[in-house]
Amino acid sequence: LSVPSVQAMVAATGGVDVPPRYLRPEAVVEAVAGAGDDDGEAQIPIIDHRRLLLELDRRGEESSRLHRACQDWGFFQLINHNVPDDVVEGMKASLQEFFQLPAETKRRFAQQQGRLEGYGQLFVVSEDQKLDWADMLFLYAQPPEIRKTKLWPDQPATFRAALDRYSCAVKEVADSLLATMSENLGLKREVIADRCIGGLQSIRMNLYPPCAQADKVVGLSPHSDADLLTLVLQVNHVQGLQIKRNGSWFAVKPVEGAFVVNVGDIFEILTNGRYRSIEHRVVVDPKEERLSVAAFHSPNTRATIGPLKELVARADGEDVAYATVEHERLRELFFATKLEGKSFLER
Ligand code: SIN
Ligand code: FE2
Repeated sequence: LSVPSVQAMVAATGGVDVPPRYLRPEAVVEAVAGAGDDDGEAQIPIIDHRRLLLELDRRGEESSRLHRACQDWGFFQLINHNVPDDVVEGMKASLQEFFQLPAETKRRFAQQQGRLEGYGQLFVVSEDQKLDWADMLFLYAQPPEIRKTKLWPDQPATFRAALDRYSCAVKEVADSLLATMSENLGLKREVIADRCIGGLQSIRMNLYPPCAQADKVVGLSPHSDADLLTLVLQVNHVQGLQIKRNGSWFAVKPVEGAFVVNVGDIFEILTNGRYRSIEHRVVVDPKEERLSVAAFHSPNTRATIGPLKELVARADGEDVAYATVEHERLRELFFATKLEGKSFLER
């Protein structure tokens, strides 16, 4: 099922005439907490990666803050993450240039029928589903041998190298976080990362064009991530990410240079629900486009996903809250349906 580029549609019409397939019956803009600074709980926790890398006796305090962030929020912002500035800037510039290419150039990297990988749209499963107000470029990046190089843009000329460097650097940060999170759960540092040996990293690069009826469309439908850990880079200054918190939408205000990190469904399953994978969505700005880069980290496709026995056995009388299934089966379920709340875990 092919869907037009939202960017091309906006270029042609100014985003004023919004086709019915994009219009949501429910009001998209509800009371949003967190956008203001004086409501007590103004922002998601900020974690300093450099402090997590200190010696054991000195990293305790920051590790505890990370543990609480994973339990109470499922989201945090990571500062001082050690990905070099030139790697981040190279990624941002290459992506901006890619989306500015003529439509026919971008189409050379288009998704194949029924496939997610490539340039196009997310989860188009039926003619009558509501569509998200966004274009994207989705690519598998790790391990390197699974890359579909044909779908990696060779324009701008910097793109492939920029994405390769970004992918490797972000994977390192993810692995380091997984080690600390493992330790925080009372496990050896390598327990969760070992599940990720040969683990997958996919990268979704998003363009959310402006929309004159921004309050009636959604950039990215409410969902929880299927993976272990997601690291999101905000490419320009336009905000849009919101997380479900205490029953209402809470706007995330990205800190300059930080990654917004969230726990995914597989992490929730491994920890038998100690860490929660939180529902989130992206709203659209009336005047300005927004760009972001989301890097998803998952175990390898041969892994089996279920609550870690080390965790369940230790807690007296704790119920095993999730079934153990093949990772491949989980992925089929996730990709077969349209994003809709946290439905993936509840199926
Ligand atoms: C997401 O991947 O769910 C959101 C990414 C973004 O902030 O655009
Ligand atoms: Fe997400």
